Amino acid sequence: MVCLGNICRSPLAEGILKSKVDTSKIEVRSAGTGGWHVGELPDPRSIEVAQQHGLDITDQRGKQFSTYDFEIYDHIFVMDTSNYRDVVKLATSPSEKEKVQLILDEIYPGEKRDVPDPYHGGDEGFEKVYQMLDAACEKIATRL
Ligand code: 4NP
Repeated sequence: MVCLGNICRSPLAEGILKSKVDTSKIEVRSAGTGGWHVGELPDPRSIEVAQQHGLDITDQRGKQFSTYDFEIYDHIFVMDTSNYRDVVKLATSPSEKEKVQLILDEIYPGEKRDVPDPYHGGDEGFEKVYQMLDAACEKIATRL
């Protein structure tokens, strides 16, 4: 799960997908394309909205996406088209590029919809993001 800062959207996506799959069989991790928040806890608003839905994401710490992640993971879900461009730039082969997918394509195929960045908005943005990611992760979990 990849977003820009790895403190708002992708930690939520990681927590939500982990809650829907067998984590002894499927490894779910998140990262940001930027490195500003490496080592930090998720944003308090993401922690709170996760808690409201019964998920604890306080074990997560910020990481930056690296080209090595293409070797480790089979699927790379990005939150928006800007993340898509940044991640695809790091791919070193067509098969690596094919691993990258907009997460909302799961529920709105081909529409190129973004999960909006809630960082500069209010708390209600985080609940909306949660709902979008929950629907997308439900699809992913049944497909994997
Ligand atoms: P995220 O939100 O990509 O959903 O984690 C952001 C968090 C921090 C920043 C940008 C986006 N930032 O510029 O620090």
